[in-house]
Amino acid sequence: MTAPVSGAAAFDPFGEAYQADPAGSLRWSRDGEPVFYSPELGYWVVTRYEDVKAVFRDNVLFSPSIALEKITPVCEEATETLARYGYAMDRTLVNEDEPAHMARRRALIDPFTPARLAHHEPMVRRLAREYVDSFADAGKADLVDDMFWEVTLTVALHFLGVPEEDMATLRKYSIAHTVNTWGRPSRDEQVAVAEAVGKFWQFAGTVLDKIRRDPSGPGWMPYSIRLQREMPEVITDSYLHSMMMAGIVAAHETTANAAANAVKVLLENRTVWEEICADPSLIPYAVEECLRHNGSVAAWRRLATADTEVGGVPIPRGAKLLIVNASANHDERHFEHADEFDLHRDNAADHLTFGYGSHQCMGKNLARMELQIFLEELTRRLPHLELVPDQQITYLPNTSFRGPDHLWVRWDPAANPERTDP
Ligand code: HEM
Repeated sequence: MTAPVSGAAAFDPFGEAYQADPAGSLRWSRDGEPVFYSPELGYWVVTRYEDVKAVFRDNVLFSPSIALEKITPVCEEATETLARYGYAMDRTLVNEDEPAHMARRRALIDPFTPARLAHHEPMVRRLAREYVDSFADAGKADLVDDMFWEVTLTVALHFLGVPEEDMATLRKYSIAHTVNTWGRPSRDEQVAVAEAVGKFWQFAGTVLDKIRRDPSGPGWMPYSIRLQREMPEVITDSYLHSMMMAGIVAAHETTANAAANAVKVLLENRTVWEEICADPSLIPYAVEECLRHNGSVAAWRRLATADTEVGGVPIPRGAKLLIVNASANHDERHFEHADEFDLHRDNAADHLTFGYGSHQCMGKNLARMELQIFLEELTRRLPHLELVPDQQITYLPNTSFRGPDHLWVRWDPAANPERTDP
């Protein structure tokens, strides 16, 4: 009998195969070696549903403290550049250990409750309509550049209570943060990325100071600043500055990517697209299946705090784990015909795209609301939308944040329903 072929040595989460299809690129692992050590990365990689979920579930044995650590060690020059800007990104929520994490999460959860989120719905709807208006007669659009990136950024800034600033600059900044945290920049790129991250850090500080001067306004950051007066040991200055920067990325890129991934997979499955055009009440199911099938967070990280095992494989204390949500979401052991897009799948919501357990994404319902509204507006106004054929879809090389850089779609404006039935 021959041993299964291990792909551990060849595993490259910065390569094209992983970017285009993280789950497909790890099928060999789910089938034969579901927990393996990647020498290239220095991480243990976990790919089956039950194992990924078990790691998420125990946030004491598997600490989230490395979630925002730079996955590629940076050169001295980049470190100096970051120091020059006073860059001091530290614990927020996603990378905070207990008991500090839960005290902070509980204190800050109120703006995420369904009743509070409902206040944002008219704004999301208005923005989605305005952006569709801007290109409905053009017959062609890049949904990333022409809609998703800016709408989700505007929603994120409103949610956080940040004054709307220069979007183009912010866009550059947040991509830099993603590359800085989860990418593999070359030496030269590292310095450029560090410059942008440093400026982003300073920008976050300036915005925070502005809000501090008058924290009476709406939004999560003014709310957090007001709360700091009551519980300064829970809502620390370091938390606020780090969250000011990380929060923009957490709320923005994840959702822009999720929207582009959703439209791509729906248009690739034309009968499903037509089904939701005919019956918009199915859109919430489509949103959940899109998040499972083609989610925007492909992998997350944890640190083993004691000798343990995952999926029967011994893991030493201090080991770093890359838990691949995208692979878990395509695990046949949990999702029947996992690679198929099934609008009527009854366990689609079991996906791990938002993580799981006590750190599970706090913004998940805001993200769901945005995705639902985007799909409602696009299916109603442009049901004849199709992907521009033969376009080269590219992704920002990184382990975790995943969505197409551009998504070109086309349609015949003469056939827009609003022209025939205004
Ligand atoms: C945490 C994914 C949108 C705020 C997380 C985590 C993931 C994630 C994987 C870590 C979960 C864990 O460790 O178990 C996503 C995806 C999104 C999205 C895929 C969009 C489709 C948002 C939005 C916001 C947000 C819109 C804010 C408005 C947060 C916060 C945490 C978090 C605050 C930290 C929670 C904690 O550690 O207690 N998200 N997210 N996210 N997310 Fe999201």
